[in-house]
Amino acid sequence: MKYQAVRGRLLHFIAQDKPEYFNDGLLVTDADSGTVVACGEAAALLDQYPDISVTQYDNALIMPGLIDTHIHYPQVDVIASYGEQLLDWLNNYTFPTEVNFADPAVATDAAEFFLNELLKNGTTTALVFGTVHKGSVDAFFNVSEKLNTRMICGKVMMNRHAPQALCDSVESSVADTQELIDRWHGNGRQLYAITPRFAITSTEEQLVAAGQLLADNPGVYMQTHLAENLDEIAFVRELFPQRKSYLDVYDHYGLLGERSVFAHCVHLDDEDYQRMNETGSKISFCPTSNLFLGSGLFKLDNQPYPVEVSVATDVGGGTSFSMLQTMNEAYKICQLQGSKLSPLRAFYMMTLGNAKALSLDDKIGNFEAGKEADFVVFDLAGTDLMARRQSICKSLDETLFSLMILGDDRAVAETWVAANKVWSKEESH
Ligand code: GUN
Ligand code: ZN
Repeated sequence: MKYQAVRGRLLHFIAQDKPEYFNDGLLVTDADSGTVVACGEAAALLDQYPDISVTQYDNALIMPGLIDTHIHYPQVDVIASYGEQLLDWLNNYTFPTEVNFADPAVATDAAEFFLNELLKNGTTTALVFGTVHKGSVDAFFNVSEKLNTRMICGKVMMNRHAPQALCDSVESSVADTQELIDRWHGNGRQLYAITPRFAITSTEEQLVAAGQLLADNPGVYMQTHLAENLDEIAFVRELFPQRKSYLDVYDHYGLLGERSVFAHCVHLDDEDYQRMNETGSKISFCPTSNLFLGSGLFKLDNQPYPVEVSVATDVGGGTSFSMLQTMNEAYKICQLQGSKLSPLRAFYMMTLGNAKALSLDDKIGNFEAGKEADFVVFDLAGTDLMARRQSICKSLDETLFSLMILGDDRAVAETWVAANKVWSKEESH
């Protein structure tokens, strides 16, 4: 047993409307098992653990590691590409970049950069797209395994409407996916997601195969894109004229369910919401991407049927790795539609809310004893402007709100994974 503790302002959520905040909190972790031992008021806990080594943080906020429910690791080199909406952006920037991932050295280099960037931003778990190449997913998991991060990733399945070099076949996509599931799903902290890119790039036969893979591999995830852009939706209607809606295409092939995460969902109708609700399917709201690609304004509130909404960066359609910046833009998208995204709700979503959406809330998302000890230490004075604004904050709400509006990677002092420090702003300089 190797217990250690961090001390400072501390916030986590027991449930959506149950934040637990300690002005002088202590988080006790076990570096051997990588788990949380205890969390609470420092004075009380220090009596119980008198000999423990304690690291104290001032002007900081300790929170569970942030979770990103939709992101593309091969798109680190696509971020900030000018001038296009979804379909042209894919053809002109994204597909040509993803072709390079046939080379495992390219994939490993990108995976290393990508995972470091996530940790620098306080993100410790993500649901991640690879490319069509099996080796891209091996490269990603190999790097994640070394860092011991809890990651979910999948090989893209796509067999049409893309450059030949990025197309697999029904048979190879099934064989590669099954091989990757067998190698990685539940291997340490790594988990697998079956990943048909979107309805446009898979034939009916490949969607049937994706549904079969999902049925054959209980516990595995499914990730894809849905109703992001109006031209995309019109193309799906042309390709699948017999289906009621874009969602109905995925429904028809058995791709809905509690472990199915649909990115975007900007343009769904009431019936789609009803099916998402009935099947327990999850939405991934990607604010910076929806604004950058001009896709539209996602409706976070007033859904016709309740569906769990998580939040995500969608790099490289998205423009920032920072979940704080992602929430900054989410707030503005809500403002444009007359609703208010409260800071407590935003920080719930980034942590326990996203953990729940990924069915991982028994493992991560808060500091209950026994959970995996992934956490972030925010530097509330990460920039001069943040320091000045924080110095006049009079409540936790104000502190959180200015953190999510002004903060980015400069607001992350340290990131810990399984009770081990893996990122330090100070040590990186
Ligand atoms: N739809 C299909 N592929 C993609 C992608 O790579 N990014 C986004 N934002 N939407 C997609
Ligand atoms: Zn995406």
